[in-house]
Amino acid sequence: MSADDFAQQINPNVPSVARMYDYYLGGKDNFPADREAAERIVRLARESGSDIREVARANRGFLIRGVRHLAEAGVRQFLDIGTGLPTQDNVHQVVQRVTPEAKVVYVDNDPIVLSHARALLADNPGTVIVAGDLREPGYVLKEAAGHLDFSRPVAVVVAAVLHFVQDDAEAERIVRALRGPLVPGSHLMISHAYIEPGQGEADRADEVRGVYRRSTSGALAWRDRETVRAYFDGLDLLDPGVVPAQRWRDDDPGDWPGLAKGGVLAGIARVP
Ligand SMILES: C[S@@+](CC[C@H](N)C(=O)[O-])C[C@H]1O[C@@H](n2cnc3c(N)ncnc32)[C@H](O)[C@@H]1O
Repeated sequence: MSADDFAQQINPNVPSVARMYDYYLGGKDNFPADREAAERIVRLARESGSDIREVARANRGFLIRGVRHLAEAGVRQFLDIGTGLPTQDNVHQVVQRVTPEAKVVYVDNDPIVLSHARALLADNPGTVIVAGDLREPGYVLKEAAGHLDFSRPVAVVVAAVLHFVQDDAEAERIVRALRGPLVPGSHLMISHAYIEPGQGEADRADEVRGVYRRSTSGALAWRDRETVRAYFDGLDLLDPGVVPAQRWRDDDPGDWPGLAKGGVLAGIARVP
């Protein structure tokens, strides 16, 4: 789908998962329909003992620590699928602080994300934003190959977006396809919504799913640790493995009372 096709899809009346996430993080790039849907999620999460704003902050913290670690470890190319609206410390800013020559390809299917990113990136030659859909990994990789050199290591970042693919087999197929062209020294970085085992919150979970079903993503799927860990099978999982995002290498973890029942699982692995 071309960038123009995406641009025609802006509909402020359909809650966008990008703008809802922006709202959770305290951003201003959202419409009434986004705020209304996001507020429903805030309430449903609270009723089931969770704090969705903590979930978003914990995920964002992992994303920043993770890409910073990779840049410090020598990775110079990043493919970030499901970019989100610009916030503080976007991926290109974090990695280019470590190494100005780092290249970043952002991919998103939300027209507002695309237009904000284009404005933000206009004077950053090392970074581009591509209109693309995670569910079409072949297309995403082809577009990315126009900007990144896949004969050298690339970090593929799939943060808080794979859970918008409802079908387990499709999610697995997507990850396998994204891993396909990665040479040794490349990395796969994933964060994914989950509920702690034994914390079944069936009623609320159905209602949460219902809100997301009516959003631009059309779906939300929680997956367990085993499923998320399996996305990294055959790769060298970095310490501390697949853990709740707030526990991934945070020197100052603090208190996260809103994440006791679940949130986002996170991991990074290296292609051997
Ligand atoms: C919850 S935000 C996560 C943003 C960022 N990755 C982070 O972790 O902070 C999810 C992003 O994924 C995008 N997205 C959702 N489904 C997508 C799809 N099928 N293909 C590409 N992007 C998608 C949304 O537009 C949104 O920008």
